[in-house]
This record gives sequence, structure tokens and C-alpha cells, in this order.
Amino acid sequence: MPDSSLIKRRLVILISGRGSNMQALVQACRDQGWPAEVVAVIASRPDAAGLDWARAQGIAASALHHKEYASREAFDAALAEEIDRHAPDYVILAGFMRVLTPGFVNHFAGRLVNIHPSLLPAFPGLHTHAQALATGVRVHGCTVHFVTPVLDHGPIIAQGCVPVLAGDTPDSLANRVLEVEHRAFPAAVRWLAEGRVTLTPDHRVDVQGDPERLFTWSPAA
Ligand code: GAR
Repeated sequence: MPDSSLIKRRLVILISGRGSNMQALVQACRDQGWPAEVVAVIASRPDAAGLDWARAQGIAASALHHKEYASREAFDAALAEEIDRHAPDYVILAGFMRVLTPGFVNHFAGRLVNIHPSLLPAFPGLHTHAQALATGVRVHGCTVHFVTPVLDHGPIIAQGCVPVLAGDTPDSLANRVLEVEHRAFPAAVRWLAEGRVTLTPDHRVDVQGDPERLFTWSPAA
């Protein structure tokens, strides 16, 4: 019998650009000794800056350029094949800026997790920080959730919240949200790695041990 405490969950991380969330996940996984390993980082474009960082960490890093595929379905089929080569337990969307087809989402159902830069269900889609400012909300943030075929929707694992401050621009607000993303996302993925996350029959998330699932931004001391 293998010792289950030695089994590491295999994580594949998908990115499209800078990859700061991917870096936060890789570092937390290593520094905190999660029962998990980031086995691959895959980008939707070859110039994604995060790829070099991943390679420098010794992580298998590859890219599929979405522009080289005739259709969304063709790209998603190739992407699913590339992901499956790494036999992941979880596929983590860390700033992956592609709308995924239902076929792809269903293939990875229950194993596909995203971070979105708003307090869902508010502000799905793009330009979430500008949407928040235009709407006048006083609280904004991020959401870590299981992915369903409906865009930016699905059972919520964790959220992070930040105040909207006087004089905020989309960039200043984005930077504040990113700080709380880098706390909420590693925490949520760690719970997954530890096997503590379950989906309830009514499509909500339970986390064993009932940890605080809201991460609140505070100004640096
Ligand atoms: C993050 O803010 C993430 O929440 C967002 O893109 C940024 C990626 O930054 N994701 C989405 O908008 C997905 N719809 P990063 O590359 O530095 O992690």
C-alpha cells in the first residue's frame, strides 16, 4: 500500500502573460511543503513572460499559440491534449485570458480552478477594475472558483476583498487586488492539494476544517 501522506497532487498551471499568480503558487507550494507539485506551466502564447520564470525553476513550460489554430475548439482540443500529457489532478487558470469551450471545461470538470479579479458574481468578463470604478462599489476583490461552462461563474472556494479608495485608477485598484489574489489563490489551491475541498450537491464548496475563506486586504505596515 502506498503511504497516502507521500502522494503529491499534480498541478498544471495555465497562464497568458506575466504569471505573478503562478509564481505565488509555485513559491507557496515549495515553501509551505504542500502535498503537491507544479508539474507544468502552459501558456496560450509563446511570449508569455511567466514561461521564462517557470523554466528557470526547472518546471516544464510550453506554449500553444492560439493564433495558430483555426477555431476555438481546435485550440482547446490541442490544449487539453498537452495538459493530459502531465496527468494533472488539478488544472489551475492563473491569468489565463481565453474563453474556454464547454467541451474543454467538461473534460476537466471538478478539476479546473480559476482566479477572477472581481467579487463574483459582480463584474464577469474583462476590465473588471474599470467596471468597479464606473459602478461606484466601495469594495472590490477577487474570486477563486471552480470553472463551469458559464464564463466567470462556478462554485466559490475563496474570495479576497479590498477597499476602493479615493483617487483610485484601474491600475491602482488592480495592484491592490493583486496583493490579495496572491494570498487567496495559494490558500485555496493548498486546500485542494490537501484534499480538503468538496462540492456539495447544491453546487457550493465545503472546505474541511472550515478555514476562513475571505482574505481581507490591509495597508502594508
Ligand atoms: C490577474 O489579476 C488575474 O486575476 C486576471 O489576470 C491577472 C493575471 O496576472 N485573470 C483574469 O482576468 C481572468 N479572466 P498574473 O499573470 O500576474 O497572474
